[in-house]
Amino acid sequence: MRPSRFKAVIFDLDGVITDTAHYHFLAWKRLAEAVGVHFDCAFNEQLKGIDRMGSLDLILTSSGRAFTPTQKLALAEAKNLHYRQLIETMSANNLLPGAMEALMKVRAAGMKVGLASVSKNAFTVLERLGITSDFDYVVDASRIARGKPDPEIFLKAAAELGVAPADCLGVEDAVAGVASIKAAGMYALGVGLPEVLTQADLVISGLDRFDLNVYQ
Ligand code: BG6
Ligand code: MG
Repeated sequence: MRPSRFKAVIFDLDGVITDTAHYHFLAWKRLAEAVGVHFDCAFNEQLKGIDRMGSLDLILTSSGRAFTPTQKLALAEAKNLHYRQLIETMSANNLLPGAMEALMKVRAAGMKVGLASVSKNAFTVLERLGITSDFDYVVDASRIARGKPDPEIFLKAAAELGVAPADCLGVEDAVAGVASIKAAGMYALGVGLPEVLTQADLVISGLDRFDLNVYQ
């Protein structure tokens, strides 16, 4: 096998490294139903990778009702409180299969390891998982002006890692996240279903299938 042509791998967090995507789903579902919006897996797919207020706006638009900025903030806060309860007991046991091994493979190959998450809870989740120091650089919501699908978050990660975007591989479970990686000019490895992540260069079912020799 020839060595990988990439110099850095930039991972998404929620739904790639750990199954917090499911906790976001549960928290959004409760909020959506409270405002009379039917919420299923298809609706949730549109929210993956989208920041908190953007996700809320999509749900509230579907409700057909008008909400004041104050009401919106209160709803976002309620969702976040519920989400934070759900992640309260997380630990290293919540790493998805193959996640730790994937981080180690990237480092062993001499590449930089980055993380790009639009979540304001990213550092809390990383701490609970015990993997904060396994990344050379983490970009979270506080370090960007525009969320996914804008390329800013992946470009910022590449710049901080000192690697050209064309030499980066991005890993994402969200349609918006894959779009962000492609807009940044990187190779996009999707985690999930090929029929959903149609813009990805390649799709695997999970990081237990992560193989640096394959992505060129
Ligand atoms: C993304 C998730 O990583 O973070 C979204 O895919 C979530 O589902 C977003 O809405 C924002 O997270 P938070 O923790 O800032 O509300
Ligand atoms: Mg994700």
